[in-house]
Amino acid sequence: MRKKIVAGNWKMNMDYNEGLSLFSEVVNMVKDEVTGQQQAVVCSPFIHLHSLVQMAKGYHKVAIGAQNAHQAESGAYTGEISAKMINSVGAAYVILGHSERRQYFGEDNALLAKKTDTVLANGLKPIFCIGETLDERNTEKHFDVIKSQLEEGIFHLDEAHFSQLVIAYEPVWAIGTGVTATSAQAQEIHAFIRKEIAAKYNQQVADNMTILYGGSCNPKNAAELFAQPDIDGGLIGGASLKSRDFVDIVKVFN
Ligand code: G3P
Repeated sequence: MRKKIVAGNWKMNMDYNEGLSLFSEVVNMVKDEVTGQQQAVVCSPFIHLHSLVQMAKGYHKVAIGAQNAHQAESGAYTGEISAKMINSVGAAYVILGHSERRQYFGEDNALLAKKTDTVLANGLKPIFCIGETLDERNTEKHFDVIKSQLEEGIFHLDEAHFSQLVIAYEPVWAIGTGVTATSAQAQEIHAFIRKEIAAKYNQQVADNMTILYGGSCNPKNAAELFAQPDIDGGLIGGASLKSRDFVDIVKVFN
């Protein structure tokens, strides 16, 4: 049975105290209300990481993640944060390849392949994001785009390393727009991703891979999305900034 995960991506929101206050609400709600084996993950800005790890200490139902890491182990990269630094404060996950980093910071598949290697080498689990733009979907390129993001971003990994990943399918046209992919649209791509993994590696690796959906997922649509056979949870943006909404999405797997 592959892991069910609901990860919140806070993006560039909240100052230090606001983030700690939200996280405290989330942890307390998860403690009181989450009864299943699902994993909640909170991916905060770097400034919160160490404090969130301390607040969640000893409580494994909530893990902490970062939203990016530099591809180098260390060096003259002013302003950057390394995977080693993220690991040193106790975070467990790192979002890589988010469409906003691809769009605004020019992160391409080749760079993301390097970032994935470094994040894995430093004991962290990448949440590797893939997804097509509206134009790519409207011109029937979405399967080709997803396939190339897999092949150029993570299919260089050997089976052992690949199996440590989490994959997030985030149709760019659904991110922050309130326009969610239908459960059929999402399931179609998730099944395609799993089929590609089976062809590259084997069926067991494919069956064990957690594939999250991201893109305007909220408490109203999460249950239908997560009921799909190849959707194993969500990567949540806006709804993760409200403790009640985020935990209601986590509770879908109770
Ligand atoms: O990484 C998750 C994010 O891109 C989805 O954002 O606000 O559409 O849930 P949102």
